[in-house]
Amino acid sequence: MKHLVAPSILSADFANLQRDIEMLNNSEADWIHVDIMDGLFVPNISFGFPVVKAVKHHAAKPLDVHLMIVEPDRYLGQFKEAGATNISVHFEACIHLHRTIQKIKELGCRAGVAINPHTPIAHLNDIVEDIDLVCMMSVNPGFGGQQFIESTYRRIRELRLLAEGKNPDLLIEIDGGVNHQNALPLLQAGANVLVAGNTVFSAADQLKSIRQLKELSPTAKTI
Ligand code: DX5
Ligand code: ZN
Repeated sequence: MKHLVAPSILSADFANLQRDIEMLNNSEADWIHVDIMDGLFVPNISFGFPVVKAVKHHAAKPLDVHLMIVEPDRYLGQFKEAGATNISVHFEACIHLHRTIQKIKELGCRAGVAINPHTPIAHLNDIVEDIDLVCMMSVNPGFGGQQFIESTYRRIRELRLLAEGKNPDLLIEIDGGVNHQNALPLLQAGANVLVAGNTVFSAADQLKSIRQLKELSPTAKTI
């Protein structure tokens, strides 16, 4: 499959959110990545339901909601109602992960598991066939604009291997520090969804930045 690009609105201009969402509508972005932070699971607070609803009101693309919150089960229904198409919960925040994943699916959403950079990939072994998506953190979650962690490449290869046979269609989404230098090697390692916040929103030409991420061709031969 052609890889997907999911700009993260954490780096958007919140005072001009409608303008930025319309830019994404007019771009080659596939999803809009929406980061929810509760100040407990991560040391930062982003925004909640009213903002997600407002984003949904203007968005012409699916909302890819990344929950960096404790006890996500309490809020899954409300995020669905607010407009989520995909919901990812953190492996580290879920005691009964299998149950949480079933709840997301019952709501009719794509179910994702987000995994911190220090959590062994092998911990996904018994959930990988039940999920649509792994949101692999390539920074410690909590902030936009952080530096990419290099061990991500090895972790992508490990996850691809683990998913082989069990869930060959698994979406592997890379979240944090994705830029125009590391995007192609990430796809070549086996990722197929790129989240990009700072890279897109700090670009002088945001549409071009998204187009360049979308146009990458991991299978094209290099001479
Ligand atoms: C980090 C968030 C990311 C963030 C990525 O905790 O989950 O989605 O917005 O931002 P960049 O691409 O700037 O690292
Ligand atoms: Zn995210």
